[in-house]
Amino acid sequence: MDKREVAPLANAYRLLNPGCVVLISVGDGTRDNLFAVTWNMPAKKEPGMCAFLSSKGHHSYPFIVDTREFAINIVAADLAPALYGCGTVSGRDEPDKWQRFALNREAGTQIAVPVVAEAVANLECRVNQMVDLGSSSLIIGEILAARADRQHFDDNGWRFDKGLRLLHHLGGKRFCVSGEELTVR
Ligand SMILES: Cc1cc2nc3c(=O)[nH]c(=O)nc-3n(C[C@H](O)[C@H](O)[C@H](O)COP(=O)(O)O)c2cc1C
Repeated sequence: MDKREVAPLANAYRLLNPGCVVLISVGDGTRDNLFAVTWNMPAKKEPGMCAFLSSKGHHSYPFIVDTREFAINIVAADLAPALYGCGTVSGRDEPDKWQRFALNREAGTQIAVPVVAEAVANLECRVNQMVDLGSSSLIIGEILAARADRQHFDDNGWRFDKGLRLLHHLGGKRFCVSGEELTVR
């Protein structure tokens, strides 16, 4: 995929609009993992920050605690089955979700965590704060680097005129896709 740097990095929050379901990748340089996350959001423009909710029970959770790094990978609708698979199978039972769901690792530029090559965008993040919510944590990360498919993302954000279909989670096995842009006068 031909990705461009998102610059200035303050524009990277636009990658998380309009609220797509994402794949979070984690890793410690030796082992890595992926899981699906619906509850994510941009949190600050400069420095760029984002946030998501993670259950503490996930196999991925200790990676985030230990390395304080993660990547957000935004996948288009064609990868819905892979995303759903990564969100329903635990790394405890499947040590290589990448291979199982036909996803390829790409080295991160700022973090040791690999990013998903097939994703239309990748945000590399370092944990800034973790807010304890009991069985889950709100993880707030600073965006250190962001790359997006130059066909579908420009300085104004996502573009839907070249067939981009972003994926949104409605709950359970149900998703919807966004694919049309509307500008108000
Ligand atoms: C579509 C979808 C969205 C999900 N969203 C979240 C979420 O926002 N936060 C969360 O903690 N888990 C979420 N999950 C659950 C985890 O992705 C799932 O439990 C995953 O298997 C954990 O993987 P791991 O144990 O290998 O880390 C979601 C699952 C699916 C299928």
